Amino acid sequence: MKTILITGGAGFIGSHVVRRFVKKYPNYKIVNLDTLTYAGNLANLRDIEKEPNYEFVKADITDGELMKTIFNKYCFDGVIHLAAESHVDRSISSPMEFIFTNIVGTVNLLNAAREIWKEFTDKRFYHISTDEVYGSLGATGFFYEDTAYDPRSPYSASKASSDHLVRAYHHTYGLPIVISNCSNNYGPFQFPEKLIPLAIHNIKNNKPVPVYGKGENIRDWLFVEDHANAIDLIYHEGRIAETYNIGGHNEWKNIDLIHLLIEIMDKKLNRSAGASLSLITYVKDRAGHDLRYAIDSGKIQEALGWKPSLQFAEGLEKTVEWYLANEEWMNNVTSGDYQKYYDDQYVKR
Ligand code: NAD
Ligand code: TYD
Repeated sequence: MKTILITGGAGFIGSHVVRRFVKKYPNYKIVNLDTLTYAGNLANLRDIEKEPNYEFVKADITDGELMKTIFNKYCFDGVIHLAAESHVDRSISSPMEFIFTNIVGTVNLLNAAREIWKEFTDKRFYHISTDEVYGSLGATGFFYEDTAYDPRSPYSASKASSDHLVRAYHHTYGLPIVISNCSNNYGPFQFPEKLIPLAIHNIKNNKPVPVYGKGENIRDWLFVEDHANAIDLIYHEGRIAETYNIGGHNEWKNIDLIHLLIEIMDKKLNRSAGASLSLITYVKDRAGHDLRYAIDSGKIQEALGWKPSLQFAEGLEKTVEWYLANEEWMNNVTSGDYQKYYDDQYVKR
């Protein structure tokens, strides 16, 4: 039986990856290591938490000695590293947490792997990253695997830094690494600080939907299970030391996305067509707001046969249905400090 460490498995993408691996690979033991920040939630994994091949370990990756102790205890065969501070707006208001978790935390895991593994045969350290490391595109062009890094927010700079360190541990120590850089994900279990779940929550509750600037920034959206599928393929078949870009070829201006979401939600909520359009509220722009992200995912498509499974309208409808059916989940994650965060971000903006 192989033992795989998945970090950040109680978060949005991590929970989909953990669920997929626990269900699909009964011959793997999956250890989910997560410190449960505001973004980590064990309710995301209720359906698999009693499976015999699943174990949760509450631990903070910024504790380097603890990471070594945990590596020693479990003798992991592989690592899929997702734990991170992940929200650009929070990185603008408190960058240090991003430095500690995303950079120091990643190096702690690299050091533990290097020291405890000693021999690297049949081992793999897979680092999950973002397309935001490439910076911002103009109206045309795509990010490729060899596009020069040009991060512009504390979040993307911290992720770029961790990517460089992961590659440096391969070049310097021979650690068997692989990296993927993915575009914006959406789907069930995403914390309602990110655009899509925040807008769904507000439309449902007849609250203003904040659109930054003129709503003209463009993101390339991918359904989270398509990302989890790509992670599965790269973990098993990706080549050591390679980078794979993952994206949906699905670019949307924020304001067009909000219009589509309102169209879907007005139907689901039995409101008249366009009833929720009046909720759209233009607010002060994000500092240093990247204009456009767009991934060329030709490499993973050709090398590993991956492709996105869902059209955006279909994925968005599934996502809306999930949030409407999981009101208790939303109530739980928006209790506690959420209102303070929201007021700081939007009311005082
Ligand atoms: P998330 O914020 O939903 O989840 C992050 C998880 O990491 C949480 O469960 C949190 O508790 C945990 N965590 C944070 N700090 C930790 C620490 N110090 N020690 C242990 N655990 C800690 O994030 P997400 O959106 O699921 O993103 C997961 C990964 O994928 C991140 O590395 C992110 O950079 C990357 N990524 C995200 C997107 C996206 O659209 N969300 C796109 C591309 C790449
Ligand atoms: P977000 O979901 O935070 O992801 P990222 O910044 O990592 O791409 O934001 C997606 C886009 O939506 C981005 O251009 C910022 C914009 N945005 C809004 O217009 N309003 C909001 O309330 C949020 C959270 C984001």
